[in-house]
Amino acid sequence: KRVAILISGSGSNMEVLARDMAGDHPARPVVVLSNRPGAGGLAKAEALGIPTEVVDHTLYKGDRPGFERALSEALARHAPDIICLAGFMRILTPDFVGRWAGRMLNIHPSLLPKYRGLDTHARAIAAGDTQAGCTVHVVTGDLDDGPILGQARVPIEPGDTTETLAARVLVEEHRLYPAVLRRFASDDMTPVILPAGA
Ligand code: GRF
Repeated sequence: KRVAILISGSGSNMEVLARDMAGDHPARPVVVLSNRPGAGGLAKAEALGIPTEVVDHTLYKGDRPGFERALSEALARHAPDIICLAGFMRILTPDFVGRWAGRMLNIHPSLLPKYRGLDTHARAIAAGDTQAGCTVHVVTGDLDDGPILGQARVPIEPGDTTETLAARVLVEEHRLYPAVLRRFASDDMTPVILPAGA
């Protein structure tokens, strides 16, 4: 299976996915695409020998369809079977999502369906939650919705800040996403629940 990974920032999730696919794996990364020219993940992808593409969304101000057309053209050049959104910070229209129905995954830093959208860690702390985590789901036209393929839970500790909680969740993202992609690329939709035996 050919995997495209879409990033906007440091690309730490992209990196763990790419490294996991370097082993015995039903999929391999064929392109890393960023909406930001300066994304740190682009250098990581190049260091891993993965082709990169940039579709700078600021060139399409107020023209989301134009941005998504450019995105589709860049992707088509690499003929991916699966798209992994990994720290990709642009909302995709139902039209774009529809073209990849059932073949696009996203990782979101909350225990969905709680805390769709942004600032998930601050919201969990403010709500006095004792647990937080991350979710990998199939992308549908609704924001941070869609069938859940995996979740990882972490405790929220007294005195946690959004930074300390984000760092704890990110460690689990890096365990969860590769585990989910392995199953998904093998057409195994059994959810991954971490910690194992939870
Ligand atoms: C992280 O905050 C993560 O929770 C979310 O995107 C952000 C950056 O991820 N998935 P990455 O380092 O660019 O993969």
